[in-house]
Amino acid sequence: MFFFQVVEEIHGCNGINLSQNNRFNGYMPKHKLTSAPKPLDLDVRPGQSVELLKQLHILTREGKLNQDSRRKLKQVYHLFQFIEKLLLELPASDSGPSLADHGAGKSYLGFIVYDLFFKALGQGTIYGIETRSELVESSKALAQKLGFERMRFLNVSVAESTQSDQLPAQIDVVTALHACDTATDDAIAFGLQKKAKYMVLVPCCQAELARALNQNKALNLQRTPLAELWRHPLHTREVGSQLTNVLRCLYLESQGYQVTVTELVGWEHSMKNELILAKYTGQKKRTSGERLLALLQEFGVEALMGGRYPLSTNL
Ligand SMILES: C[S@@+](CC[C@H](N)C(=O)[O-])C[C@H]1O[C@@H](n2cnc3c(N)ncnc32)[C@H](O)[C@@H]1O
Repeated sequence: MFFFQVVEEIHGCNGINLSQNNRFNGYMPKHKLTSAPKPLDLDVRPGQSVELLKQLHILTREGKLNQDSRRKLKQVYHLFQFIEKLLLELPASDSGPSLADHGAGKSYLGFIVYDLFFKALGQGTIYGIETRSELVESSKALAQKLGFERMRFLNVSVAESTQSDQLPAQIDVVTALHACDTATDDAIAFGLQKKAKYMVLVPCCQAELARALNQNKALNLQRTPLAELWRHPLHTREVGSQLTNVLRCLYLESQGYQVTVTELVGWEHSMKNELILAKYTGQKKRTSGERLLALLQEFGVEALMGGRYPLSTNL
């Protein structure tokens, strides 16, 4: 179901009009009710902010789209399609949909999603969470300039945002695109606490587990041939990164999420293209929790990493 929807999205890159397959539950921006959407058109859409596209350097100052910009716009639309589909599946509510983007950077993702979905919808809020104050300030200024009044920017870390009184108790969609190192784990913890219906995660570099693997390397090499997988420093980093994402998926499943792992196709400017999509179903997979613990033991990092994945004790 969820998986096939994602595959559909990827194939959508080759020209299928995905919107025909959207299951509409609640939210529908006005422009979608009046005209057939063309998500893969690489033109500026009706109602889309030309000023925003200039700020993102997709359009030139003269408003022109060159070949490089077309590629960038294609990437933007591609990512937007993932998120749009999830937003359309949310049940309607008085306050509208909520989305928290962690490690927002220049809030490039938030701005695009707001412009293409929230703006026409007339309700709902996007929150950008970012530790670099200058980026938070420039995002605030741009939102004000564009009249994107339901965008909020918080100068706090992902971990701190969980406690912030500037955020509601529940958030529908949590995104974390290349949020550095453990910020992705913090975003997952945030999503769990906020009872997020969807999480969209593109992890970045990951060092925490590689450090843990390094700590007992000699001991583990004696204990198991598996430790050959991370004997060389380059492999430690790669295995650490791969294992981290596997553990994240198992953890999400153990907490009631259906998980799909795919590739953020067309995102050529980054080596880190793994896209983890999690949809809350409420079905907590006990076996995933057990597997998670077994993997931590197998890799000899249970003591160092166990706290990262708090599982209920009655597994
Ligand atoms: C690689 S950039 C990605 C920016 C944006 N998500 C994108 O994909 O264009 C990572 C951003 O996350 C921010 N960041 C890193 N760790 C963070 C944390 N723990 N809490 C909040 N922001 C964080 C950094 O300051 C940086 O702006």
